[in-house]
Amino acid sequence: MATFPVSENVGKMKGSSTLLAAQAAAEMRARGIDVIDLSVGEPDFDTPEFIKKYAWEGMEKGLTKYTATAGLADFRNAITEFYSRQFGADVDLAEVAASCGGKQALFNAACTLLNPGDDVLIPKPYWVTFPEIVTFCRANSVFIETEETDFVLTADQVAAAITDKTKLLILNSPSNPSGRVVPSEEMRKIVEVCAAREVYVLTDECYLFFAYPPAKPFSLAVLPPDLRKFVCIAGSFSKTYAMTGWRVGYTIASIEWTKAMIKLQSHSATHPTSFVQYACAKALRDTDASMNAVAAMTTEYEKRRDWFVPALNEINGFRCSMPEGAFYAFVDVRGVFGDRFQSSADVADELLKEAHIVVTDGKGFGADGFLRFSYATSMENLRQAIEKMRAIFGAKTRATA
Ligand SMILES: Cc1ncc(COP(=O)(O)O)c(C=O)c1O
Repeated sequence: MATFPVSENVGKMKGSSTLLAAQAAAEMRARGIDVIDLSVGEPDFDTPEFIKKYAWEGMEKGLTKYTATAGLADFRNAITEFYSRQFGADVDLAEVAASCGGKQALFNAACTLLNPGDDVLIPKPYWVTFPEIVTFCRANSVFIETEETDFVLTADQVAAAITDKTKLLILNSPSNPSGRVVPSEEMRKIVEVCAAREVYVLTDECYLFFAYPPAKPFSLAVLPPDLRKFVCIAGSFSKTYAMTGWRVGYTIASIEWTKAMIKLQSHSATHPTSFVQYACAKALRDTDASMNAVAAMTTEYEKRRDWFVPALNEINGFRCSMPEGAFYAFVDVRGVFGDRFQSSADVADELLKEAHIVVTDGKGFGADGFLRFSYATSMENLRQAIEKMRAIFGAKTRATA
């Protein structure tokens, strides 16, 4: 039988390695095995009740039809007000477009800028989707190594990587998978370095609010117009408000870039669900309720991080820098390499088979030798996971931990 002639653009893309880990967990569960799933990339909280009520209210008000491709003006206005209130940023309505999640925002931004053969800088470790979007656009991913600076990108690293072929840099801080946060001053310097060479910056603010003190949420929306014209912000409601299934995000970019993204989206998803846009606008304006919900989740993630990361560091052969944001610990497991394990995939496999713990191999994030542990799960799960890993690898004595 003839095989389906998948297009070259899609044929060259790789499937998501994070989804592979989720699949492994689902298969084990289907066989009746109790798994501890530390591979999840979504909050373990439900969407706050008040947002659900606003969605219902939107339906009752008849918001069940098409909206403008860019989204409801009311929703986009609520975003501009939000960035002004939270960060003191001056964002124009015409610079905002609604999208179906942060992922579509990223796709829209890349597809409207990149031409075949353009170079795109991506710091390692990266979120799995970044290089695949670049591949889809027939552009080239050029990776920046950041292990030397403990996975925190610097302006010097960016400056050294830019060439005449560089068109775009993709940033993600707080980062998935490392949880590391680039300090705000360094973020500014990075954009300055890029703007000076006419390199655009696509910044994924998916984990914007999950920054733990002393780290603070910081948005590139605050940059002055001469720098911001090179920047596209890809925002998402998925993680911030525990709304992964609602599929709502947005872009903030120059008016020209935004127009191009709206044109592209008019021929694909059109816009995110009408009553969801209504609910998000209401939620953003219900500042106390939304910020309290975000603070409650952030406090809980921080509590888990504070217990889990030191406990990981006490396991023989494991090493993990303290993540300042998101809900991931990115652990260097090269310390257990030897006869028994030759790669992080071997370690992940052992955890799955011997301890029924599901984690994500760092290779998919461009960092072989590392494993990503999500702590978007209960303390009880984290405690059990640590106990089981101690049984397999042993624990360091306090003095060496
Ligand atoms: C870094 C990063 N960006 C974007 C997304 C996509 O989020 P959304 O659900 O808004 O498409 C994710 C989801 O895992 C992510 O980790």
